[in-house]
Amino acid sequence: MISQQTIDIVKSTAPSLKKHGQQITSRMYEIMFHKYPEVKKQFDMSAQANGSQPAKLATAVYSYATQIDNLPALKVMVERIAHRHVKTHVLPEEYPIVGEHP
Ligand code: HEM
Repeated sequence: MISQQTIDIVKSTAPSLKKHGQQITSRMYEIMFHKYPEVKKQFDMSAQANGSQPAKLATAVYSYATQIDNLPALKVMVERIAHRHVKTHVLPEEYPIVGEHP
């Protein structure tokens, strides 16, 4: 179970994510690709250039923030992301790379 304090902290990030989400995720990918160029080959780099991938990540993080106390509401989105990750061969050991760039 997630504590009420954690729920409150996560929810309090929602307004900033709504306002600056895509700016944050665009910068995050920029830093990640600079530091770990080897992960670039898994990504469609045109989706980076046109902003669609940073927009999708920003939407996902915003949804987590607003629905952290209603996890069933995230099911469809999480399943879609999981399918996309399987299709693009994302490995468990790659998660710390993304986790390092919040
Ligand atoms: C908790 C961490 C992560 C979140 C929240 C996340 C979120 C997302 C989202 C929202 C999408 C778009 C799904 C769609 O098309 O609808 C996506 C796609 C993708 N993710 Fe992740 N992801 C995470 C971790 C990772 C990691 C560790 C990698 C590997 C380095 C990765 C690589 C990819 C790739 C290659 C795609 C497809 C993008 C493309 O087609 O260019 N993700 N992810």
